[in-house]
Amino acid sequence: MREKLMQLKDEALAKIAQINHEKELQDVKVEYLGKKSPITEVLRGMGQLPAEERPLMGQLVNDVRGEIEEAVKEKAEAIEEAKLNEKLATESIDVTLPGRPVHAGSTHPLTAVVEQIEEIFLGMGFKIAEGPEVETDYYNFEALNLPKEHPARDMQDSFYITEEILLRTHTSPVQVRTMEKMEGEVPVKIICPGKVFRRDDDDATHSHQFMQIEGLYVDKNISMSDLKGILLQFAREMFGEDQRIRLRPSFFPFTEPSAEVDLSCMLCKGSGCRVCKQTGWIEILGSGMVHPNVLRMSGYDPAIYTGFAFGMGVERIAMLKYGVDDIRHFYTNDSRFLKQFNRI
Ligand code: PHE
Repeated sequence: MREKLMQLKDEALAKIAQINHEKELQDVKVEYLGKKSPITEVLRGMGQLPAEERPLMGQLVNDVRGEIEEAVKEKAEAIEEAKLNEKLATESIDVTLPGRPVHAGSTHPLTAVVEQIEEIFLGMGFKIAEGPEVETDYYNFEALNLPKEHPARDMQDSFYITEEILLRTHTSPVQVRTMEKMEGEVPVKIICPGKVFRRDDDDATHSHQFMQIEGLYVDKNISMSDLKGILLQFAREMFGEDQRIRLRPSFFPFTEPSAEVDLSCMLCKGSGCRVCKQTGWIEILGSGMVHPNVLRMSGYDPAIYTGFAFGMGVERIAMLKYGVDDIRHFYTNDSRFLKQFNRI
């Protein structure tokens, strides 16, 4: 029995020594250590041995098994290592090859300008409100004191989807929605940035889709001087400390009185140039005191509360600030144009 075991061991070790593949190794392992292997058989037959021989025999079988297991393990490692070496030898990496450039995107200039404007108004205590781009006629017009058939609707030529639904022509409907949501609470102190849409022929200064930021401040005792102070502060932070502003009487159905706000020309500082058409002033936004009808319709008693509102076009501000001469640049997405704004 002892000899038989030794013979099995030598046989197994010799086979293992010659193996080069995992699969063969697996087969030999099953052959000599598996349930049906002769060594396992010896273990099973131990019961028939005289009691005094059992411990010795058991020890021997275990040693043989151990040696074979060890040989299998070493071989498995050797095969693994050989595989790795082969891989390293065949797959060489040329570390001197130039890398492939990764084109990183940059913040769109309009997004950057919206963020700059938001920052300024957040600093003055305004909150940001947003609303749907597809609006109802009620929020876009009626609640803003523009009943159906009102001639001033022509000021904002609209994309209608149905009789009652359209693409919003300004972000003023967000102001109405916010007042409704606040149910008479004050202060309502918000700015509303977002895309707006008007039927217009696209050219260097017009786009059928553009961005607006409107503002609304409703509380007790809000007056035109609050409007002027806030807008002057905005102008200075956006275009520089030496900015001046000028209010001119105007008309909007949702504000009374209404004013057009001009900035002193940031290019010629007021002396007159091509951009300001020699006037020294640049028209930048519409504004006014919220019309009592608008306050009333949104749940605020105009006898108690007053408010101001304003609205500006983001593209126009961006064009003035960065000297962009054609609004279409913002929408044609030429990456050479966009990249210039990488670090603003
Ligand atoms: N909603 C106006 C527009 O888009 C802008 C505006 C807002 C004017 C608030 C006055 C007050 O033309």
